[in-house]
Order: sequence, then structure tokens, then C-alpha cells
Amino acid sequence: MNINVLTEGCLTENADCLIVGVFNNTRTVQGALAEVDGAMGGAIKALLANGEISGEHKETQLIHTLGKTAVGRVMTLGLGDAQELTFEELREASARAIKEALKSKLTKVAFELSEAWTSLDAKEAAHAVVEGALLADYRFAGYHQRVEEKVSLESLTLFCTAEHLEETKDGAHLGEVFSRGTNLARDLVNMPGNYLTPTVFAEKAKEVAERHGMQVEILEKHDMEKYGMGGLLGVNRGSVEPPKMVTIKYQGTDTWENVLGFVGKGITFDSGGISLKPGAGMDEMKGDMGGAAAVIGALEIIGTLKPAVNIVAVIPMTDNMPSGSAFKPGDVLTAMNGKTIEILNTDAEGRLILADGVCYAKKQGADFIVDLATLTGAALVALGTCTTAAITNDEDFMEDVMISAAEAGELLWRLPAYKPYKEQIKSKIADLKNTGGRHAGTITAGLFVGEFAGDTPWVHLDIAGTSWADKAGDLSPQGGTGAMVRTLGTLALLRSVNQNEE
Ligand code: BES
Ligand code: MN
Ligand code: ZN
Repeated sequence: MNINVLTEGCLTENADCLIVGVFNNTRTVQGALAEVDGAMGGAIKALLANGEISGEHKETQLIHTLGKTAVGRVMTLGLGDAQELTFEELREASARAIKEALKSKLTKVAFELSEAWTSLDAKEAAHAVVEGALLADYRFAGYHQRVEEKVSLESLTLFCTAEHLEETKDGAHLGEVFSRGTNLARDLVNMPGNYLTPTVFAEKAKEVAERHGMQVEILEKHDMEKYGMGGLLGVNRGSVEPPKMVTIKYQGTDTWENVLGFVGKGITFDSGGISLKPGAGMDEMKGDMGGAAAVIGALEIIGTLKPAVNIVAVIPMTDNMPSGSAFKPGDVLTAMNGKTIEILNTDAEGRLILADGVCYAKKQGADFIVDLATLTGAALVALGTCTTAAITNDEDFMEDVMISAAEAGELLWRLPAYKPYKEQIKSKIADLKNTGGRHAGTITAGLFVGEFAGDTPWVHLDIAGTSWADKAGDLSPQGGTGAMVRTLGTLALLRSVNQNEE
């Protein structure tokens, strides 16, 4: 896939399809639109006049140029209100246009969107267009005997004014990098549990880290025993696959300080263990490593953009299986920091491996921690599939994460972490129990992880609802979505900017 940014020749460039933005109150054609319209003998003006092009957000019209221009098709793309076009709206519109283009097997696509610069700056607009296009272009390859022919983008060209060339190039680069990180996470989430075992997963994480010159450490079972990682070891007891604990360090400043920790739940398959899940939909639990995938996707972004921040990523990996050796309800496990946990349900396994992950991140010097996990079905009940749930122990750090999510165009909602909820995870015979009952399940699961963060500023992101899409949308096909990759990437970039200002 080629991405180009050019300042002239939108009609002569040898693309299959030139996409031009149209706002909803467009009566006259100006600028780029006028140029395209002129070449096509007033076709766009005519369609605007009779209402076939309304400029409504995401409306597309594919027009054959019948040899009048070197570009075989022009697609008009509705962008809604010129003054109110947002980053997310442009990203979605771009995604929709790409889907339409690909449906017609148009794979060399160009955007003439100088009109769109009115409410967004050129960098944001280019970022949105490229990110939307490449997220829409994503498809999981799968495992068919005969490799399916995939119609995908061959080239993406942006046309902008000479004045905006540098900004547009910068934005296009961001869009490319952010979508690459997201699509990497999607691939990992979509991989079945028999292909993505903890061993393979650890190798994949290592490959990403080493490609970007980051330091990698993979703990084996005997290392975990040495550290007393009873949570991860407990969950792994029922499995024939060895567990892994992957730690990746990215050092972007001279000294290892102000370290941001990312801890991702890496359950490569969650059967529920002895507290076995019902059969229907259990296959989706191959995606129970969405938190880990988000961390790896973010590392791809960070490794490419190299912000001046320090990051330690910790990813505990295992599957959760029933067997004669599996951990059981009633068992008591001891986490790395010595806290004891009474197991009431082996299906509440994510928090157990995160407990050790968070402890290990602190040991590696994390001063701030974000943990990400497909942790509770209750998050789906509370917020559905579009919004990630958050819990925190630190207002300022939460604010940073909220700002990052907003900037990345991902929806996030904070749930309360009031003290009374903690009563629900107290155990009579151990320090904690691993379920807090039916009420407020997302909160009590988050607070359980928070017990291990202690005083370290911490934000917990429950992506059980957002990491997996049951049906295709504009930006994502059915399956893994890559939720929170862009938020984590943005958080790293924002902290680097803030540090430079200090
Ligand atoms: N991986 C699941 C949560 C999940 C559910 C993710 C649906 C994605 C979609 C997690 O390990 C789990 O099983 N949680 C239990 C916790 C309960 C036993 C306290 C749940 O939510 O039912
Ligand atoms: Mn579970
Ligand atoms: Zn799980």
C-alpha cells in the first residue's frame, strides 16, 4: 500500500477513483469541486441542483467520468455541515467512501479534500482521512485452504494545497501509523486460540518490540514461581500451554523515570475453567487477549513515532482451561505482592493475571499504570459495545486518559470507584475474593485490580464491550476492533508533549 500526498494533478493522476468532499449546504461548486465539475461538463452541479447529491454525512455518489478525465470515477462524499465537521465524522466518512470504492473494485483511490479543511486543520483532516481509509480496508486473512482474493487498497493519494503540504504529510503519517497499530491488534484478537497460544503470542510481542529496538523479557513458568506470581500460575494450572509474562521497555528519555506502565490481559482463550462458560458464543473468548493486543498495537505506534516518554508494557499470557489440574472454586491463591485471593469463580480469571501483571509493572518502575482488559460481561450490560468503561484512583491521570481517548476518537466513560464497592470483594478467609457478586460487576472487578496498583496512579479500562464487534461497522469489520490502541498511542504522545513543556 502506497500513500502519497500531492499538491496538483488530481484529475490527471492515474487513480481509479477520486473522492471529493461535499458539504450539505453546497449550492455552488468552488475550488477543487469546481475543477472536477468543470472537467465533467457540469455533472456535479447538475446532481447538486436536483438533490441527488445532498452532502449529508457519509452520502456517496459514484460518477463515471467516461473518459473526460484520466480518473475513471469521481465519488462525491457527503461531509455534513462545513462548520461542524469533526475528526471522527471525517474519519467515518472516509471509511464509508473506501468501502464503497472497494465494493466497485476501485483500489487506487485519491482524496481531494481541501474543502474539508474549513473546520479541521490540514493535519487533523489528513490524519482522519488516512486512518478511516486504512481501518476500513482491514480484513482478517483467515485460514481458508484456498487463499481468498481480497480486494484491498493499492494506493491512497491525498491532494492538498501547496500551503498545507507539510501538515497534510504529517497527518497522513499519523493516520497510517495509528491504523497500523490498530490493525495489528485486530489481527491478534481475531487469531484463534490454537494458533495464538501464549508461546506464539509472546513471540509476536517480541517481534514487534525488537523491530523497534525495545528491550524484551519473557518470564517462563519457573521465573513466575520464583516471583510468586500465584494469580497467573493459578489460572494456568488447568492448561497444557505454558504461561508467559512478557515485559517490554521503551525508553524515550535519558533516564528511566516518569514511567508509564501498560498492563494488558492476555487470556488467549477463556473457557471459564472449572466454572465453565455456556457453549453458545464461547468461541469469541479467543478474543480475551484484547487488552494485551491493545498494548502491543500501541507499542507499534510508539515504536514508530518515538515520543519522549518511558513505557513499560507488561503482558501476562495464558489460556483458562478446565482439567484435573485446574484451579477450583474455593482455592486460595497468593499474588506476587503476597495478597491472598479466595477463588469463588474460575471464570473471573482476568483480574488474577492482572494482579501479578500490575505488581510486576510496579517492580519494573511504573509510576503510572493503565491496565486494559476484556474483563467483565457487565461492561457490555452497562455501556454496550461502543463505550469502554474506566475506573481510577487518580483524578489527574484519569483526565489525561480521557483527553487522549477524546483526541483519538474513542468513547470512554468513567464508573465510580466509591469505597462501599470494596466491601463486595472482601473475603472471610483471604485478603480478597475474586468475584464481587452480580451487582456492579465492572466496578468490583476494576477495584480488585486497583488493590494491586495501591497508591500508584492507575486507570483501568474494561474493553469487554468494545474489543469485539458482533457486526461490521464503517471502521471495523466483524471481530476484533483494536479498541484503545489509539487512545494509548495518543496518551504516550500527549505525555511526551507535556514533558517537553515542563
Ligand atoms: N473474559 C470474560 C469477560 C467477557 C465477557 C469478555 C464477554 C468479553 C465478552 C471474563 O473473564 C469473565 O468471564 N468474566 C466474568 C466474571 C464473573 C465470573 C464475575 C463475567 O463477566 O461473567
Ligand atoms: Mn472468564
Ligand atoms: Zn476472561
